[in-house]
Amino acid sequence: MIRVAIDGPAGVGKSSTSKALAKYFGFAYLDTGAMYRACAWWCLKQGIDLDAEQIDERVVTETVGEFFTGDHFDISVDPDKPAVSADGEDISEAIRSSEVSTHVSKVSNIIPVRNVLIAAQRAYIAREESADSFSGGLGVVAEGRDITTVVAPDAEVRVLLTAREEVRQARRSGQSTAGVGAEDVAARDRMDSKVTSFMTAADGVTTVDNSDMDFEHTLDVLIDMVENAI
Ligand code: C5P
Repeated sequence: MIRVAIDGPAGVGKSSTSKALAKYFGFAYLDTGAMYRACAWWCLKQGIDLDAEQIDERVVTETVGEFFTGDHFDISVDPDKPAVSADGEDISEAIRSSEVSTHVSKVSNIIPVRNVLIAAQRAYIAREESADSFSGGLGVVAEGRDITTVVAPDAEVRVLLTAREEVRQARRSGQSTAGVGAEDVAARDRMDSKVTSFMTAADGVTTVDNSDMDFEHTLDVLIDMVENAI
């Protein structure tokens, strides 16, 4: 069982590279950002005011806890068809809306909420060790902001995927189709940095700066790292 932990800021191509890497090795793919997005989506749907000056953290934490323990939430770790659902409804697109993007950090900044999500993410990763898991015990690629440091600090492969600011800005602009402008995403990075550390690599984490690499090159570098760990 190989665990690959990938962290990094927005605009670096983390999701597409992680997905392709998982596909290449037949591993499971866990998009932890999608889990935080699903929580924000759920809270908004329950009518919680995430624009309030003083967000009721206790209510948000309870609501998120109920989302997971009440069996509302589901995520597919198949890299060929990653999907997130709530009560059987596919919300994979809804969680990419600009409304969710602008509110997600308010939810992910609440430490008790993070603790619920971290426990759930560890359970998904641990599940991949069993023979009847998606990957049949082969491995998992988990990506986010705190995977190398908090969720799976003992992963076999730990990568901080990053790129120069102006390169990420350019890639962000190219990704603005969901209505998320470059500034919004920069603000999200700033807010996310309050509770997670994804701008510099922790001890034992390899930094891959893909500023001057295209997608295929980045993927090749990561494939080499995983092959060396097998
Ligand atoms: O990766 P993505 O941009 O979809 O993540 C959405 C949001 O989820 C981030 O902006 C951050 O607030 C939160 N997140 C987090 N920890 C992770 C992954 C995502 O706080 N491991």
